[in-house]
Amino acid sequence: NLIMKSAQTIGVLVPNLGNPFFSMFIRGVQSASRERRFIPLIFGADHDEDLESYYLQELIKRAVDGLIIASASITAEAIDNILKKNGIPYLLIDQNGGPSMDRVRIDEDHGGRLAAEHLLSLGHRKIAVVMPEHATENLRIRLAGFKDRLAQDGVALSDDCVILSPMSKLGGYQASAKVLATSATAVFAINDETAMGLIRGLHEAGKRVPEDVSVMGYDDIDFDEYIVPKLSTVHQPVVTMGRQATMLLINRIQNSRQAPQAVELPVDLKQRESTGPAS
Ligand code: RIB
Repeated sequence: NLIMKSAQTIGVLVPNLGNPFFSMFIRGVQSASRERRFIPLIFGADHDEDLESYYLQELIKRAVDGLIIASASITAEAIDNILKKNGIPYLLIDQNGGPSMDRVRIDEDHGGRLAAEHLLSLGHRKIAVVMPEHATENLRIRLAGFKDRLAQDGVALSDDCVILSPMSKLGGYQASAKVLATSATAVFAINDETAMGLIRGLHEAGKRVPEDVSVMGYDDIDFDEYIVPKLSTVHQPVVTMGRQATMLLINRIQNSRQAPQAVELPVDLKQRESTGPAS
């Protein structure tokens, strides 16, 4: 039978298709969708709220069966006005939609702690962080875990060492001068793309990584092993995240009355070459 009752489509919104983190996420979405005989419609919103609302509305008009929103810039208002009003099942990544929602949860607190522990073990005491100004909930938890673990060893993350910059290669690149102004011996970049831009900027300023400054990323995207120096990071099981998010959503589409489901996924440290002993 070639004609299906429902179109078996899910909409997927990610903030940035250029970040390999999200292409890996989509790989997971595609593989689970195929198994369950659904087709994903994928959009990158380029961190643009208007574009995002536009895609959301269009997807709903086209009667998608459900939505995965991994997009950091979606507002609570858009969720209420567009999604809740239309009664379409959806799943949020990086944001907590409340206790009644299905969730793929990553142990962000532990991830932040792992990053801190690694830098502390190398003797770093003056550490900077590069992160976006309007951080999603998961990033705030990541930072809190990081700070907490530093505090356990009596190391404070001072305000001037928290450098606010867009979460992108360019953001990291542009943050490099501010990082150097802090005289920190190590930097925790909130994601790998930011770390890569930062390394480039430090290099252009004549600094060696890790001899002068250690740089730690977060995500474990495929480029990490191909840049010089290879990037130390915290691995996120992102393909599995995409798979699990898809399965939860499709379960919800097929059985709207089941209790909210949560899947917890672990993270782990990948020590490579961009971090070294404090100078
Ligand atoms: O690189 C994209 C980042 O945004 C990841 O760290 C992910 O967790 C999301 O918050």
